[in-house]
Amino acid sequence: MPRGTTTTVSPAEPLDRTRPPAGSSATERLAGLFPPGTTVGPDGALVIGGCHVEELAERYGTPALVVDENALRARARRYADGLADRWPNSRVAFASKAFPCTGVYRVLSDEGLGIDVASGGELTLALAGGADPEGLVVHGNAKTEEELRMAVDAGAGLIVIDNFDDIDRLERILAETRGREQGVLVRVTPDIRPDTHEAITTGQRGSKFGLLVDQAREAIARLRGSDRLRLDGVHVHVGSQILDTEPFARAVEAVAELGEFAVYDLGGGLGARYTYDDRPPTVEEYLDALVGVARRVLPAKARVVIEPGRSMVAEAGVSLYRVVTVKHSGAETFVAVDGGMGDNLEVSLYGQRFEAAVATRVGGGRPVRLVGRHCESGDVLSAGVPLPDPRPGDLIAVPVTGAYTYSLSNNYNGARRPPVVMCRDGESRPVVRRETYEDLMRRDLV
Ligand code: LLP
Repeated sequence: MPRGTTTTVSPAEPLDRTRPPAGSSATERLAGLFPPGTTVGPDGALVIGGCHVEELAERYGTPALVVDENALRARARRYADGLADRWPNSRVAFASKAFPCTGVYRVLSDEGLGIDVASGGELTLALAGGADPEGLVVHGNAKTEEELRMAVDAGAGLIVIDNFDDIDRLERILAETRGREQGVLVRVTPDIRPDTHEAITTGQRGSKFGLLVDQAREAIARLRGSDRLRLDGVHVHVGSQILDTEPFARAVEAVAELGEFAVYDLGGGLGARYTYDDRPPTVEEYLDALVGVARRVLPAKARVVIEPGRSMVAEAGVSLYRVVTVKHSGAETFVAVDGGMGDNLEVSLYGQRFEAAVATRVGGGRPVRLVGRHCESGDVLSAGVPLPDPRPGDLIAVPVTGAYTYSLSNNYNGARRPPVVMCRDGESRPVVRRETYEDLMRRDLV
């Protein structure tokens, strides 16, 4: 792309950005992985949410997780409106494990989404972020008595039954809160194994999540006889980073066989586009597939809930790093940055591939090994990613890091977890500050 021009790389929503126009340049292709609305300025640098990357890095330091707030809001609306257009009695609940920080809860609650929480911690953060208790869906394969009590006390709309002990505990808790009735769903394991990383499949026989169909029927029968637990319906979630619609459609058919209910929660799982080659269904294709089957097999009056996590937040996030050192070792060039598996475990845990750019000179270059600073050879951010003559001090941007990187960030090697910075219309605001060395000692008692 010639310098001196500002290129708006991403067309406005809801155009299909997963299929870039034929003939687009390598720079446009790369920039097209960044949040919608990202531009490459006249100086060749990325501008995210109207904010120049170098200014962001100077102000907030690196590593930093940058979130384009407009992109996040647009995605939330695209999901909520898309589902409501197809199935009016519906709700999108953000699976908050994908990005559990108060700032994100606040934005997505503000957009009217419900929130899926999977622990007392996420429940606490959701409430602090302004979530409407009625829109909470409370998950967990091992919810403790304390967590169930927190959910009931908060007035959570739905608690998802994952085992028979959940029923016993809830019965006990509700017996103490006279007059209170609690809406519940039964999580069904439909024996569907989608094509994704084994660690993130959940719907297959042998999964630790949910109840196989026969047991689900037993739980349903028991809940129908309960005075205090109101069986609202069933739940299914078959896995994450799923790149075709077929497993979702099969899951809807599977839960329909359990009978007629007021609520069907169809889970999350739609994949994100991390690399040029990924071709996930668009939100619209996904909803068409889901609702297409729902129209055929679910009661017309039922409420449909979905729980997107990754596909809600992944594309809105960008990780910024500084190059610390460049090492030429035989045929390989190692470009080591000031972050790594402390702030992005997706590569080490799931082998996820990420692209990357020199944020101030987007595009071009020869393949290098982009590595982190942690004491492990598996600490790689991207193996074989082209970067144009990277040098110490260069700013590196890794796109599509909005999902699960914040949640899985850690203090390996005493790493201080990075800040989260929201950018919108040229203004930036930190919603999480960087950890300090003092923070690292906060819980130490000696
Ligand atoms: N609903 C339930 C009940 C879930 O367990 C999950 C994700 C979701 C919804 C959202 O799925 P999504 O739309 O994000 O695919 N730690 C892994 C991801 C684990 C996902 C677990 N459950 C990672 O970093 O890739």
